Amino acid sequence: MGAMKAKRWSAAASGLVAIAAGTALAGGAGTEAPPDGLTFLGQPVTAEQIARGQQVYGEYCASCHGANLEGQPDWRRRLGNGRMPAPPHDESGHTWHHSDQDLFDMTKLGVGGVVAGYESDMPAFGEILTDEEIAAVLAFIKSTWPERQREVQARITAKEESGS
Ligand code: HEC
Repeated sequence: MGAMKAKRWSAAASGLVAIAAGTALAGGAGTEAPPDGLTFLGQPVTAEQIARGQQVYGEYCASCHGANLEGQPDWRRRLGNGRMPAPPHDESGHTWHHSDQDLFDMTKLGVGGVVAGYESDMPAFGEILTDEEIAAVLAFIKSTWPERQREVQARITAKEESGS
């Protein structure tokens, strides 16, 4: 009788362990592995960073740059106020034409904050996001690019780091 009870308890306990293990696995499955060798400002990009960056993107960037990084409609044509619409961050845009440091600076200071005298609707996120969040969102954006765009952007970044 005592043995019977103990057995039932241990079966229930192992069920709980299985549920806990299943939850841990499901949590890991949602985070996407970064493309091989992807870095941001010289640091390897992690799956956690991409997940965080995706969250930041949805909250702070998607309203202008599009939920799927597609940019604003007709983004190559200047608006009535003389400013440019938000370009896509996917491979159809020109985000990948800029080095890591330039992308970081444009996000932190705004495009107007980087190019003196240039009027731009791109806000400065320096007071809104931490440096880690800015790095995460740019790492997320980079992780969505096809291999060719990642390679070209890595070369532009390396060239700038070497001071040429
Ligand atoms: C209020 C709208 C708006 C929001 C929100 C916004 N952007 Fe922008 N962004 C723009 C506009 C407009 C431009 C084009 C600037 C120009 O050329 O004048 C731009 C340009 C950029 C560029 C330069 C791209 C290039 O190829 O030159 C980067 C990088 C960028 N945004 C990153 C971000 C990130 C990251 C976020 C979220 C943290 C964000 N933006 C949120 C409007 C926005």
